[in-house]
Amino acid sequence: ATRKAMVAGNWKMNGSLELVEQLSDAINNVKSSEVNIVLFPPFPLISAMIASGVTTGTQTVSENTPGAFTGEVDAQLVKQLGAKYVLVGHSERRSIYKESNDTVAAKFARAQQVGLTPILCVGESEIEQENGQTEQVVAAQIDAVINKLGVAALKESVIAYEPVWAIGTGKTASPEQAQSVHKFIRDKIASLDSDLAQGLTILYGGSVNEKNSELLFAQTDIDGGLIGGASLKAESFTAICNSAK
Ligand code: G3H
Repeated sequence: ATRKAMVAGNWKMNGSLELVEQLSDAINNVKSSEVNIVLFPPFPLISAMIASGVTTGTQTVSENTPGAFTGEVDAQLVKQLGAKYVLVGHSERRSIYKESNDTVAAKFARAQQVGLTPILCVGESEIEQENGQTEQVVAAQIDAVINKLGVAALKESVIAYEPVWAIGTGKTASPEQAQSVHKFIRDKIASLDSDLAQGLTILYGGSVNEKNSELLFAQTDIDGGLIGGASLKAESFTAICNSAK
């Protein structure tokens, strides 16, 4: 593919200063021009991660500009510290913290406003999948951004498809299943702007490990992965990074 592979590691509410040291040493050893490796540690660890030389993002960011929002984190500050990316709309943010499609679109806009690249996470729940609603759900999640900001906003962004039933469950989508949704996403965007769609990085997430990553990443429309659990283990994570080369 003409698109550069990306492997992103989402630590969720895990990790420590020691883990930053371990993972950054391992990543600095496997870094290559063929794969863009990014880690998303919890907020308190981002400065240490940035200082280690690993490309860094945050797991969420406020949709607001600075003001009276106790406990929230301003995107401009994250950018100033040297982070490059931000996850928006991760399924745990949507389900546990009740972020709506509109809120997610607002966070996407705020990230781009300060020059951070948003990674828009989309994906259907188990029930939605059983009811055959995967494409409809994913389309609505992407349309929330397109309707607010226009399709051109997707140019400086990444999309991560993560079926909720595959997250942290050990149940990965098959390469064919994942490819079919990735193709749906790319075709949908291509119907509005075909060059943009061809250049767009689309990641797969959900129980990716060093055993299944190679076949997933070999699919035409899968440009890399968003890794949860396996990004906390240096050996697994670097093996996954190497399989994307
Ligand atoms: O952001 C990462 C995803 O939620 C995947 O997590 O690899 O532990 O299933 P997982």
